[in-house]
Amino acid sequence: MAEASIAARNDPWKVLEFYSGIGGMRYSLMKSGVNAEVVEAFEINDKANDVYQHNFGHRPYQGNIQSLTAVDLDSYGADAWLLSPPCQPYTRQGLQKDAGDARAFSFLQILELMQFILHPPSMLFVENVVGFETSETHARMIEILEETNFITQEFILSPLQFGIPYSRPRYFCLAKRRPSSFINKDLNGLLIQSPRPLFEHVDKVTNEDDLSQKDWEKSLLSCQPIEQFLELKNPNNDSAADSASFVTHLPEHSIRNLGENDVHEYDGEVLDRASLDQYSVPLSLIERWGSAMGILVLMSLSQHLKFTIYVKGTGSLLATVEPKKKDKSSLKEQRLRYFTPREVANLHSLPEEFEFPQHISLRQRYALLGNSLSIAVVAALLQYLFADHF
Ligand SMILES: C[S@@+](CC[C@H](N)C(=O)[O-])C[C@H]1O[C@@H](n2cnc3c(N)ncnc32)[C@H](O)[C@@H]1O
Repeated sequence: MAEASIAARNDPWKVLEFYSGIGGMRYSLMKSGVNAEVVEAFEINDKANDVYQHNFGHRPYQGNIQSLTAVDLDSYGADAWLLSPPCQPYTRQGLQKDAGDARAFSFLQILELMQFILHPPSMLFVENVVGFETSETHARMIEILEETNFITQEFILSPLQFGIPYSRPRYFCLAKRRPSSFINKDLNGLLIQSPRPLFEHVDKVTNEDDLSQKDWEKSLLSCQPIEQFLELKNPNNDSAADSASFVTHLPEHSIRNLGENDVHEYDGEVLDRASLDQYSVPLSLIERWGSAMGILVLMSLSQHLKFTIYVKGTGSLLATVEPKKKDKSSLKEQRLRYFTPREVANLHSLPEEFEFPQHISLRQRYALLGNSLSIAVVAALLQYLFADHF
């Protein structure tokens, strides 16, 4: 951790959590050790709110963030706003309509309100997909933050850089209102691709701090092995190392693209070996991919990591058997399976006590987890944001 301590205050910082989903920001705040209290969360999706309420004992304000007024926002007297707005306006799947996408309106709307708030927050944290940093919405966000006296530092970071065998680079904007400032003042206004400034004093980031392909492979080697994140071990081979793989992508929106019958409903919390079957990828699906083999990327990594499978558009799959030949013909042999929701939660660094209420279906669990974020990454960024450096 950077040498400056997290701001010592008697009263906890008051925080608003926008687009709260299943509470990834709140879990990150708890993990960060910052003395903070979420005074309200805002989320339109009732299933996400069921999960949030189940775990935190508080139901977020269920409504459209776009309908909040400056008076509403002022009434909380919040010190910090944490926002993870929808990412579809900036993704290829979401057609990249950017600020013209209705799903971007609520975010732009509350940013615009910042100018009319009597007591604006002194800190702001935004999470989104890579690609957001070149969007019109981003340009407007930076403009508003400058007009309202904020300084910013932006990051693109992946859990892989924090010892988690999971590649999911995400964009983050950290903003502090003057006279507050960041520990590493020289990085103001920069987009940084290294976690180094979060843990030590740096005057500048060099190109070497940005990860090259070689460095990514090196970070992979220093990651915890994937089997530490699995609840279902490979029944064919108890030596977990033999099933080692790493995750390049999680079932974000993708699981929802699968046919209804391709995902079996999950009807309980108790998992045993027989449960593995419900996560195996049906042969019919593998056969159907035959014509779409072009979208499969099978890549060899080190001896330690064995191999990786990345199936575009269908989320991540775990190969539970290493093929003799690493080519597309070996797909059936690899006994592909989906990650279970608990495994996805583990890769997001959600705590052990996090759980879904029984009535949330398997499909909904994947969708909600796919929308969430890496607690390991966000906690470190929040520690840096809240560290006191007036
Ligand atoms: C990227 S997800 C954020 C997930 C969250 N950080 C988590 O850990 O689960 C965006 C969330 O914003 C919600 N949302 C989208 N538009 C909204 C709006 N106008 N008002 C309130 N919530 C909205 C979606 O339902 C979704 O849960």
